[in-house]
Amino acid sequence: MSILVTGGAGFIGSNFVLDWLAQSDEAVVTLDALTYAGNRENLASLEGDARHHFVHGDIGDRALLDRLLAEHKPRALVHFAAESHVDRSIHAPGAFIKTNVEGTFTLLEAARAYWSAMADKDSFRFLHVSTDEVYGSLSPDAPAFTEQHAFEPNSPYSASKAASDHLVRAWHHTYGLPVLTTNCSNNYGPYHFPEKLIPLVIVNALAGKPLPIYGDGQQVRDWLYVKDHCSAIRRVLDGGRLGETYNVGGWNEKTNLTIVHTICELLDELRPSPEGSYKRLITHVKDRPGHDRRYAIDARKLERELGWRPAETFETGIRKTVAWYLEHQDWVTRVQSGAYRDWVAKQYQ
Ligand code: NAD
Ligand code: DAU
Repeated sequence: MSILVTGGAGFIGSNFVLDWLAQSDEAVVTLDALTYAGNRENLASLEGDARHHFVHGDIGDRALLDRLLAEHKPRALVHFAAESHVDRSIHAPGAFIKTNVEGTFTLLEAARAYWSAMADKDSFRFLHVSTDEVYGSLSPDAPAFTEQHAFEPNSPYSASKAASDHLVRAWHHTYGLPVLTTNCSNNYGPYHFPEKLIPLVIVNALAGKPLPIYGDGQQVRDWLYVKDHCSAIRRVLDGGRLGETYNVGGWNEKTNLTIVHTICELLDELRPSPEGSYKRLITHVKDRPGHDRRYAIDARKLERELGWRPAETFETGIRKTVAWYLEHQDWVTRVQSGAYRDWVAKQYQ
């Protein structure tokens, strides 16, 4: 038995693969194109582990997908691979359409062909990992997003993810492909690429660089520790109802300014700077175009149907995260300099 994980060298995917193999002996095939966001070093602890097989390749490569599915015969496909950064989608949306829309289409078609030929069709699952951003932006007093909320994506990233969610839904309704979709809020934790708010603020603070706050910093995100997202995905894979979507969230709505203050206070405690509080580095900069004001996830369906609750509070999760970055400054240095690519080349060629 095995599962195929796309995007397993990225932030959430690598946490998922590591957690999966820490808890189960079921083999994992990781397929990842190793874009700027993919880092094989994240999976270095699995080197030599016979349960893990890494494949460098693109989800848009149908021949490769057919070969992998025929060779490894996975009982499930967990689809993380995506372009994931909103700011990049504003500057260069093409890659988002290519991977998130066309890539997901190619993966669905390969999965459909594989599943159609399976003797035991009931055993297969296609789990699509998506985002709360497909629902658009909430006004301050609106209730949190439920699975019934209309799709109102506002950025090229969220529009491309919404398109992929629709494709997954259609492949279930039209062809009967056994799909599950999760729509999760903002993740944070180990291996988070330092272009996203939380890791960026930690690494900039330690380097004495400005901490950029877009606009007034009063935008709200609902934060979830990455390992809780991974446990939710495992739960949905095990017991989710076919064709359903499940919201995943941490019940942790915070403004961006609160997040940055919290990180500064933790760093003041754990790595005090002789120049005074890290808050001195906070700098308000131009806002992100089309910036969504508020996201909040109602995760009660997942709790009701599958008994899932996050294990971490924001306070415990952010403390672990800051500590991880303090302990893994080599990882940060290699990512920031681009040397993680050389590191990978040295280890794996
Ligand atoms: P990430 O950018 O850190 O990682 C994406 C991974 O996909 C990288 O390893 C990259 O190399 C790989 N990839 C990109 N294009 C590929 C292609 N064409 N073929 C194969 N691999 C490719 O992203 P992440 O933050 O880990 O997000 C993973 C998934 O979870 C995405 O689908 C994202 O939309 C979703 N999601 C993310 C968050 C979050 O807060 N980060 C929240 C909810 C949902
Ligand atoms: O909600 C889930 C989404 O969360 C995922 O689908 C995306 O893949 C993931 O990147 C994330 O999107 P956000 O745009 O919310 O994350 P980001 O870390 O880029 O920004 C978080 C908030 O912080 C957002 O309101 C923008 C703001 N921000 C971000 C950066 C990078 C700043 O104020 N300054 C910054 O430098």
